[in-house]
Amino acid sequence: MSDVIGNYESLKGLPPLAGLTSFEDAAGPGMGVEACVDRLKRIHYSLHRSWSICLARLTSEPIYELKMGFSHHAHLTAEHVTLFRERVSEMRHPPLGLDKVPDVNLEAFFDEILMSDNALQMIAGLYRGAFPAILESATCYLEDTNLLTDAPTVRILKIMIPELESMIDWGNAAISALEKEATDDERATLESWMDELSAWLAAAGQLDGTDPASGEITTTPRFSGKDWEYDNIPQRDERFPDPYNMGVHAEEFLYDEKFDERDKVLMMFYKRIREIDVPEMMAPIMVELMNATGNEEKGGRPWAFYRDLTRQMWDEARHAMMGEVGFAKLGLDWPKLVMVNFTWSKGLNEQLTPTERHAVLWFIEQGLMNKTGKRFEWEVGKASGDAYSELIQDFDWADEVLHARIGRDWYVKDFENVKEAAAYGSECWDKVMTDWGQWRIDGLTEHRNWWPDLYKAACIMRGTEPDPETLAYDETYASTRADLNRISASG
Ligand SMILES: [Fe+2]
Ligand SMILES: [Fe+2]
Ligand SMILES: [Fe+2]
Repeated sequence: MSDVIGNYESLKGLPPLAGLTSFEDAAGPGMGVEACVDRLKRIHYSLHRSWSICLARLTSEPIYELKMGFSHHAHLTAEHVTLFRERVSEMRHPPLGLDKVPDVNLEAFFDEILMSDNALQMIAGLYRGAFPAILESATCYLEDTNLLTDAPTVRILKIMIPELESMIDWGNAAISALEKEATDDERATLESWMDELSAWLAAAGQLDGTDPASGEITTTPRFSGKDWEYDNIPQRDERFPDPYNMGVHAEEFLYDEKFDERDKVLMMFYKRIREIDVPEMMAPIMVELMNATGNEEKGGRPWAFYRDLTRQMWDEARHAMMGEVGFAKLGLDWPKLVMVNFTWSKGLNEQLTPTERHAVLWFIEQGLMNKTGKRFEWEVGKASGDAYSELIQDFDWADEVLHARIGRDWYVKDFENVKEAAAYGSECWDKVMTDWGQWRIDGLTEHRNWWPDLYKAACIMRGTEPDPETLAYDETYASTRADLNRISASG
């Protein structure tokens, strides 16, 4: 048979089979639809669990870089989940059973990672356990499937593989950094727990189910043999030493015509980096809704809701990093000079239901679409002469337009009209109590006006003298107009 096909040629020696593969390989065996779907569903389950673990650990993780990594990888895995769901639905009629747990040992493997004690364990579990196993499953699938019959799946896997590899690289680099501070005990625990994770996978017949599953559980869960309790309270690392500080009213400064655009850029960098609080608030919306319903297809939100919100969450993380880069570029030590607070995410997470938080988010974001919103910030960037500021405001604006659309699709649709949706959003936001004065009494913050120090440092870097009026700016979130006398809004 191979001799026969070896004699077969395409016309004029043109590349055959649309570049998919050779005649020999295409004529060879491959997996049938049933076998393909079985494997894809297990990989889908694993991607979905990895996505939800990134979300579940984001808010309570203090370290900013890890929050950013989890935001990025939640987005990538959500995109992969979407591709796998679509592909399975092409090959099978509903019910697709995509929300079924394919194997209890695989479930235990992910539960262990979800409930692990610290960031080092969680990252090792995910990036040295789960993602490499998904990668291995994808590679193995490509070897076993017929590249002609199953070309649509092949395409999806080839999109996913390099992204998985880059995620694994990030994870390994993060582990190396975190391991430096680990004690010998912690390292030993990690090592034996990683062996336990491998045992869960082996008992599941590996992630894709290609090994005969022993089904035998030879190990007891180290972290997960109990109910999982979600922690939605935002934590920050040491570069956020004054997280209740609401002593500098960024918006008042930004909209005051007497101040120079070049100085307003500093306030915009602050507003961007402060957007770290949006992922901290969006991840719990998704985690809590998912856990409230148990099954996002029934009674809860469809997958497309989670996919869109994850994309938005990732954009907000990017905006924070744009602000970080802005300060770094100007040589300004933001952890010392800028007090980035968490009052918004903390207040919303503690005081509102997931749906109410989504209402507030949409209410704020639709407000950014008017003349004093994102267009204004972009115009300030443009007028400032700082090309970087102009660039990031351009994208910040474009992203917010997308977010307004996501809000219309998933929030406004439940109301009679936009007006009612806005009224409810405003009402929810009014419900959030911020005790500006009490925080000071309780010693949580002095609401120190950090602006003069930032401004002076910027003037030194530029080699200019501070303008006295700009230096004297002293407007807090406590003594401002009534309609802004609320928690500072991220944008
Ligand atoms: Fe946004
Ligand atoms: Fe934003
Ligand atoms: Fe933004």
